[in-house]
Amino acid sequence: MAHARPTPPSPAAGPPTADPPIADPKAAPGPTAAPAAALHLSGVRLRYDHLLALDAIDLTLQPGQFVAIVGPSGCGKTSLLRIAAGLLLPTQGHVQVLGDTAAAAQAGKRLGLVAQSPALLPWRDVRANIDLPRSINRAAGRGPQGTTPALASTDALIRLVGLEGFEQARPHELSGGMQQRVALARALAVNPELLLMDEPFAALDEITREQMRYELLRIWAAAAERAPKTVLFVTHSVTEAVALADRVVVMSARPGRIRAEIAIDLPRPRRQTDERSPAFLDAVDRVRALLRDAPPDDAAHGTTHDTAHGAPDSPAPDGPRP
Ligand SMILES: Nc1ncnc2c1ncn2[C@@H]1O[C@H](COP(=O)(O)OP(=O)(O)OP(=O)(O)O)[C@@H](O)[C@H]1O
Ligand SMILES: [Mg+2]
Repeated sequence: MAHARPTPPSPAAGPPTADPPIADPKAAPGPTAAPAAALHLSGVRLRYDHLLALDAIDLTLQPGQFVAIVGPSGCGKTSLLRIAAGLLLPTQGHVQVLGDTAAAAQAGKRLGLVAQSPALLPWRDVRANIDLPRSINRAAGRGPQGTTPALASTDALIRLVGLEGFEQARPHELSGGMQQRVALARALAVNPELLLMDEPFAALDEITREQMRYELLRIWAAAAERAPKTVLFVTHSVTEAVALADRVVVMSARPGRIRAEIAIDLPRPRRQTDERSPAFLDAVDRVRALLRDAPPDDAAHGTTHDTAHGAPDSPAPDGPRP
C-alpha cells in the first residue's frame, strides 16, 4: 500500500538580487536539524546565475532508509545529489550529512557518489579503477583496513557487476553501461554509510537493469546487517523507484521543489515477481500520476514525460508510452 504525502507549497522565488548570502556549511544546524540523520536538507535553495534550480528543499533520510527521487528532466535531481555530496554549496539552507558537513563526510569517505556520467580514470584498467578509493584510503591510513570493514573484495565486486573477463580493460574499451557498472563497484568498494546514486542503471539494457536493481537490494540488505546503509537514488524509471525504495520523492520543475512523497510499504526482501502484484502496480500508478502533474522542463515544446528520457519502465500499468 502506498500513501501520498503532499508537500505544502513553498513561497514563490524572489528576484535574482533577493538571495541571501551563500550558506556556510560549517554553521550550526537549524533548529529543525536532526543530527542523527544520514542526510538532512533544510530550506535548500540553489541558484545558477539567473536560474533558480532548487527551492525550499526539505528532505531527511534516516539511517538505513532507501529513498528514490523522480522528477522531470532538468528539475535539479543531479544538483541535489551534488549538494548532498558536498560538491556544490547551496545558495541558501542547511545541509547535514551523517551529523557533519557534507564536505567533511565526503573527505572522510563516509559517502559515495555514483555520478550520472561515470568519471573513470582512462589510464587505469577496470580493477584499478574499482580499487582506486580503497588505495587512497590505504595511503591515508583509513578505510577498509582501518575503521570501516570492506564490503567485498575487488574480485567479488567485479563479479557482482558482471565484469569478469574485463579486469584489465581500460574505460575506452568498455560500453557506456559497462563503465557505469565500474563506477557502481567503485562507489561500493569503500562501503560508504550514505550512497548517492544518480541514474546508475540508465545506460544498461532492460534485463541487466532489472537484475542490477535486485542485486543492489541484496547488497544493501547484506551491508545493513553490519551497519545501516542509506541510499538516495535518482531514477527516471518509476518501476525502479518503487521496486527499490522505502519512499519515493517526486519533484517538480522550475524551480525544482519536492512536490510529494509516497511511502512504499511493500514487504522486503523484494523480488522481481513482486512487480506484478496489485500493491506494486498501485504504487507505480500513484507516482506516475504525480509526475504527470509535475510540469516537465520542456513543457513549452509540448512533450510529456511519464518517465523522462523514455527510460525502460516495464510493465507500463496504464498502456504503452509514445
Ligand atoms: N553548472 C551549471 N550551470 C548552470 N546551470 C546549470 C548547471 N548545472 C545544471 N544547471 C541547470 O540546473 C537545472 C537542473 O539541472 P540538473 O542537472 O540538476 O537536473 P536533473 O534533474 O538532474 O536533470 P536530468 O534528469 O536531465 O539529469 C537545469 O535547468 C540545468 O540547465
Ligand atoms: Mg541529472
